[in-house]
Amino acid sequence: MNQKFVIQNTEEFVRTKLEQEGTGHDWWHIARVVELTKTIAEDEEANLFISIMAALLHDLIDDKLVEDKEAALHEVKSWLDSQQVVEHDQVHILDIIQTISFKEAHNHLTSLEAQVVQDADRLDAIGAVGIARCFAFAGAKGNLIHDPDEEPEINMSQEQYREKNGTAINHFYEKLLKLKELMNTSTGYQLAEERHQFMEQYLEQFYKEWKGIR
Ligand code: ADP
Ligand code: NI
Repeated sequence: MNQKFVIQNTEEFVRTKLEQEGTGHDWWHIARVVELTKTIAEDEEANLFISIMAALLHDLIDDKLVEDKEAALHEVKSWLDSQQVVEHDQVHILDIIQTISFKEAHNHLTSLEAQVVQDADRLDAIGAVGIARCFAFAGAKGNLIHDPDEEPEINMSQEQYREKNGTAINHFYEKLLKLKELMNTSTGYQLAEERHQFMEQYLEQFYKEWKGIR
């Protein structure tokens, strides 16, 4: 099948699956990650078809969204079969979506396309959109926006932090402000710099307003 149609069909497939998603991995997260992926992939001369397909499918096997990761992986594979994606490309796409999550940060990323999609996914967690997602997540969990008695604990692992049910502002220190340095590609890094700076400015303003000072 023509790659353009495969991408269009996959968009439909993912959109239907994630329409009702409420954990910050809704369809619009995917749509933004796809756009970022195109921008970075073009700059980095990565394979566009592989990168876009992996971006579209990257959250379908996330254990926050699915109970059975293996079954979800199997379903994605069946989808790729149905679209007649060649075996070699299937292996590459499945490899990317299995290795890009933050938890597996120390996993060796096997290809440029994996690096591109991971950068795009991480970029969507920072900057103005990242801030919005952070507060939306905190609200959904019933967490506070900020607790000045709670010192930011920069070295806490993501697992420890989840258990602790920290505030939205603490999440900046636990994750968001670390993402810029974790960019794989130079295009990703350039995009991250602006978003990072924006978050720092945001925090400065936030603390100023919190204290009620001029
Ligand atoms: P990923 O897309 O890397 O799997 P997560 O599921 O950890 O990300 O997070 C989804 C979105 O919710 C991201 O924008 C992330 O920054 C945000 N988020 C995750 N955990 C928290 C938290 N404890 N407090 C606030 N926002 C969070
Ligand atoms: Ni994602």
